[in-house]
Amino acid sequence: MKKSNTKKPNSKNRIIVALDTSDIRFAKKLVRSLKDSIKIFKVGSELFTAHGPKAVAVVREAGAEVFLDLKYHDIPNTVANAARAAAKMGVFMFNVHAAGGLQMMQEACMAAADEARKQSLTPPKLIAVTLLTSLNQEEVTKQIGISKSIDDIVIHYAELAQKAGLDGVVASAREIEKIRAKLGPQFLIVTPGIRPAWAEHGDQERVTTPKEALERGANYMVIGRPITEAEDPREAVFRIFAEL
Ligand code: C5P
Repeated sequence: MKKSNTKKPNSKNRIIVALDTSDIRFAKKLVRSLKDSIKIFKVGSELFTAHGPKAVAVVREAGAEVFLDLKYHDIPNTVANAARAAAKMGVFMFNVHAAGGLQMMQEACMAAADEARKQSLTPPKLIAVTLLTSLNQEEVTKQIGISKSIDDIVIHYAELAQKAGLDGVVASAREIEKIRAKLGPQFLIVTPGIRPAWAEHGDQERVTTPKEALERGANYMVIGRPITEAEDPREAVFRIFAEL
């Protein structure tokens, strides 16, 4: 593990560990044990609903960064104010639903940048959720009432996010190449649904290995259970590093 070249440390910094728990003590323990190798932790609705900004503080105090995964989707004014609050906490990245529309995304972007400037912080990266990967084509067509194909909707929302000035999108590994081809090399792609070759799939159906996700063009990978539910999370991280 000590040997390094210019590419490997870079790949390691692309892993975001999802702190999917409502137990703040467990989250704290995980952050402490992984902070030497993992630089970004995801705080999502579960942990944030249970513990609020304290959950962000636990990560920041350990010297790591936060991806605040609360997927804002509301009227532009409300989302802009939430974006301001996220920026004020010093998060590294947060997200909104592209379905909230262009104005909502633009206002979120401007508010976060403005607040970060006021706080003398680096503006957080703002990414959009396009279409939840838990939805299949039949649900999208029949329940949500959109007749386009999932691929077309994802590209449409990704383009809208870029137009609004966002930094990127959350996307499943199978969507990466199409988004990259359309949206260019600077657009961030954050990919969940990652399973190392040795890990159980759990409820994730279309999984990708960490190496494959990077090769396809993901900038960041979100990994939860293969690390957080491992008997030894540190060892799981090292096994993943060895695969990259
Ligand atoms: O445990 P696992 O590696 O499956 O965790 C993946 C994380 O990424 C979870 O926090 C989950 O909510 C999130 N996520 C996902 N699929 C999406 C969007 C987010 O699995 N399409």
